[in-house]
Amino acid sequence: MTGTSSTTLDFGVLFGTSGHHLAGWRLGADLGGGSAGAELDVTEAIRWAQRYEEAGLTALFVADVVSVWGEHLDSLSRTTRASYFEPFTLLSALAAVTERIGLVATATTSYNEPFTLARKFASLDHISRGRAGWNVVTSVVPLEAGNFGRDAHYGHAERYARAAEVVDAVTGLWDTVADDAFPRDKESGIYLDLAGRRALDYRGDHVATAGPLNISRPPQGHPVIFQAGASETGRAFAARVGEVIFAAPRTLAEAHRYRAGLDDALRAAGRNPADVRVWPALSPVIGSTQEEAARLRDTLDELLHEDVLRRVIQDNVGDVDFSDFDLDAPLPELPESNRSRSRADSIIALAREEGLTLRQLALRWAGAGVVGTPADIADHIQEWFEAGVADGFNLAFPFLPGGADAFLDHVLPELEQRGIWRPHYGDTLRETLSLARPDLTIADFAGATA
Ligand SMILES: Cc1cc2nc3c(=O)[nH]c(=O)nc-3n(C[C@H](O)[C@H](O)[C@H](O)COP(=O)(O)O)c2cc1C
Repeated sequence: MTGTSSTTLDFGVLFGTSGHHLAGWRLGADLGGGSAGAELDVTEAIRWAQRYEEAGLTALFVADVVSVWGEHLDSLSRTTRASYFEPFTLLSALAAVTERIGLVATATTSYNEPFTLARKFASLDHISRGRAGWNVVTSVVPLEAGNFGRDAHYGHAERYARAAEVVDAVTGLWDTVADDAFPRDKESGIYLDLAGRRALDYRGDHVATAGPLNISRPPQGHPVIFQAGASETGRAFAARVGEVIFAAPRTLAEAHRYRAGLDDALRAAGRNPADVRVWPALSPVIGSTQEEAARLRDTLDELLHEDVLRRVIQDNVGDVDFSDFDLDAPLPELPESNRSRSRADSIIALAREEGLTLRQLALRWAGAGVVGTPADIADHIQEWFEAGVADGFNLAFPFLPGGADAFLDHVLPELEQRGIWRPHYGDTLRETLSLARPDLTIADFAGATA
């Protein structure tokens, strides 16, 4: 086992109400598809959040891009990526109707200031009574730049340099208020003990913030930090700040390599690999037989328009217009991308290794993952868990409601029976994940007040 301390699995779920497969929203109700207008239906969102909590999943994870998701609106017009909730507002609503499930918001370090981030996550942590998590991203869609007054997106190295500063400043801000800073003593009239507050005066090359924070310390001390860096720079960053790491290896061998590399990076950053949870992505297509599951996958894939197939690859490998490319020809030579470098490398490697055409490559990437019966999916989960490459999984159900129902009703009971998963919640997300809380009291401040 390489650095795995969990005795039971955790499951995050990529939260949405339309399904993760790019054509999932088009699947007919007879095959388990849902309403085509579900993506902004808050009643649906509440229903799913409560259902996931009832089933015992660990956390809802809301992805985000702060622009339209891609340049070519002809193909954007064919996916639910054209319209989605802003994560903090959605999760604040869901916090009020759930009690134990974690609430993980994606927020970019490239187009946010540390004070805003620290404050919003502190608020979400209070609103949810200790269930907030921050998926720290540096932004993968270059169009985001134009919405924040920049002509071009930050380069890969620069955005990670900024990300490191932003995370330091945000965690620094959470630490400007001691856990016991608020006596709220009616008798003495002291609400806030000023000895429990300090300035930060953070000054980096990219961001600066004075502090202190204008809210009491988050219930978890620090909301849990999620990260998915996968390139060398990204992985070093994940190893420095991440507590739960999202990964996207394609095979068990790749997952072993990823985990070993991450563990090395964690040790190099002075951290114990046992203090970090790794959750590979898992998008299950489930049928009562393998044939039925394969048919379902084929039906989903047939619903993908050719423009969408082009976009799947184009969006991930970067700044090339694929409009005139033949879908049934091999992937052409491509220039280096300023998007997710690791993802581009991984896609290009897959195409070259297996000699895939653009169409075949796009279908692999469009959202269908492990295909099989509930027992097959449980085998996959068990194999990766027992190999020590997964402490949990980040589930992305390809379509709703059928795709999620099959997992919750058939795969989870199977895993429970095998003794590798059980529903479990602590009082906070941090406790659920068995991660230590960074305590901070007035005594730790040694007299520095603000
Ligand atoms: C499960 C998962 C979810 C992700 N969610 C987002 C997201 O919501 N927004 C975003 O900009 N990037 C997201 N990413 C991309 C990562 O932030 C990161 O760019 C990517 O994993 C590659 O890392 P690299 O920059 O080191 O190559 C996600 C990645 C994974 C694996």
